[in-house]
Amino acid sequence: MSAAVNTISLSDNGGNLSWPPLQAEREALSNVLASQDEDLFAVLLDKAEECRATVLGNKVYPRGLIEFSNLCQCDCYYCGLRHSNTRLGRYRLTADEIVALAREAWEKGYQSLALQSGELKSSREVKFVSEVIKRIKDITAHDGSQGLGITLSIGELAYQQYQQLFDAGAHRYLLRIETSDPKLFNQLHPPGQSFQKRLECLQALKDIGYQVGTGVMVGLPGQTYEQLAADLLFFVERDIDMLGLGPYIPHPDTPLASGPETVIANPYKTTLKMMALARLLMPYINMVCSTALQTISADGLAMGIKAGANVVMPVMTPEENRSDYSLYAAKKYSSFEQLRHEINAAGYELVLGEWGDSPHYFRRRQL
Ligand code: 5AD
Repeated sequence: MSAAVNTISLSDNGGNLSWPPLQAEREALSNVLASQDEDLFAVLLDKAEECRATVLGNKVYPRGLIEFSNLCQCDCYYCGLRHSNTRLGRYRLTADEIVALAREAWEKGYQSLALQSGELKSSREVKFVSEVIKRIKDITAHDGSQGLGITLSIGELAYQQYQQLFDAGAHRYLLRIETSDPKLFNQLHPPGQSFQKRLECLQALKDIGYQVGTGVMVGLPGQTYEQLAADLLFFVERDIDMLGLGPYIPHPDTPLASGPETVIANPYKTTLKMMALARLLMPYINMVCSTALQTISADGLAMGIKAGANVVMPVMTPEENRSDYSLYAAKKYSSFEQLRHEINAAGYELVLGEWGDSPHYFRRRQL
């Protein structure tokens, strides 16, 4: 089986995959994912680690994560923040509270923030976030400094709204496709939420000039290894800059928690394999070690970094709001100090003082 790993060779953005990919290449990826061979798992992670060391070195970049609101118009069947979940206290931090957290992050030496929330699509909400971004830039970007880098993860919006947020100073955007299979996407979302719209949003973000991140959940009910292989090819085809992959973790107050069985044998190991394959196929992207991965295993952080992750998100959300930002059950929260300790122990370095943008973005734009 480790011959199958050798068919996935180190390439810049899938450079030695044929395009459109041959059925054989899809199958090779799917076979690697489906294999329960321990040797294959070890070889694959070693290869990813080697690739990452060669291309990116041992740096890991933190993004201070502020989950500033759990208000959400969407009703995704898997997500605890879904509109129909009434067993959740809803909150939104004020602009002053978010700016104060940003100032604290800046003073601690962070160079980047990730602002994340449920989805509110009104122009009022977008104006609110734009104003917050401008204030954060005002207090941090001067005296020759570019200030705090801002990553947004606030969902599907209109082109002009993405433009407005970009003009305010955001420069990275995370919007997971959740699955690249339109049929599975429809099984996870109510009729008003469309796969096509998600694709259009990803394209809009790219056209505007954001560093664009996407990703999927691994181990969704009904999801197959073939679909996961197609997800990897989707990332390559879309030429993404950043990736977030996490295991699906059922949330008891969602419809999907009582949905069909998971087909994937071991979502934890399969997520790690997906990460390792992604690193080999797209050596220059930024890849986050997701909180979901760290939640389902005590080794999640160290193993995720070994599999090629080079970004982590220490949580800065106020403690009293954390339990209400429950995307899934028993979400783990790690502080900067905890992450630094574990990252050092794994032989990597958590870096302050650099933005740590996706090298892939600059290569893609030939900057
Ligand atoms: N398990 C794992 N990840 C989840 N997300 C939402 N609900 C869950 C869940 N039950 C992820 C989605 C979304 C991101 C914000 O959180 O991928 O894009």
